[in-house]
Amino acid sequence: MVDISFFGEDAFALDELARKKGVTALVDCGVAPGLSNIIAGYVTEKMDQVEGNDHPQKDNQKNNLSSKFIDKGAKMPILNIEGVGEFEIPARTRLVNALEDNGGEPLHRCGGYSRCTTCRVEFLAGEPDSMTEAEKAKLENTKDALGSYRLSCQCTVDHDMHVKVLLPFSESGLDDPGARPEDQVTP
Ligand code: FES
Repeated sequence: MVDISFFGEDAFALDELARKKGVTALVDCGVAPGLSNIIAGYVTEKMDQVEGNDHPQKDNQKNNLSSKFIDKGAKMPILNIEGVGEFEIPARTRLVNALEDNGGEPLHRCGGYSRCTTCRVEFLAGEPDSMTEAEKAKLENTKDALGSYRLSCQCTVDHDMHVKVLLPFSESGLDDPGARPEDQVTP
């Protein structure tokens, strides 16, 4: 038996009865608030950016901060793929794979290693501020690339974004789009 919170009776007075009945009783075990605060704190450690006034890393003793906070923290980013639709994507999913899994048909001829530029996308909204070193180097060394497009294999979906796939597989005339990129950004 588990009592999650606000146990009205003297828990220790029930010890003998529990033993007699052969049950294990966990009383006032602090699921919410309690465990929820810990979970919210853990989630914020994993996020780049936190919205809202309540912040369990600063005040994890504060009651009832969690539901409001978790609602915000758990919201999945929306990926709008131009001409295809809008999709909720687990945060930090590699963009090229999010496109692949939701009908965006990106090419990824080098397997996501920032070598081919076939995974290129145009950001219509939500372009990431930062670039991996590999993407920066590739775009700087490719004619007319820097400022024109981004490499979806080097971006992760960590906020809402709207992208257009510039070289869709079905229009490429190629036999396959390339090996599926790994879950983590490479190289
Ligand atoms: S540069 Fe080749 S898949 Fe992204």
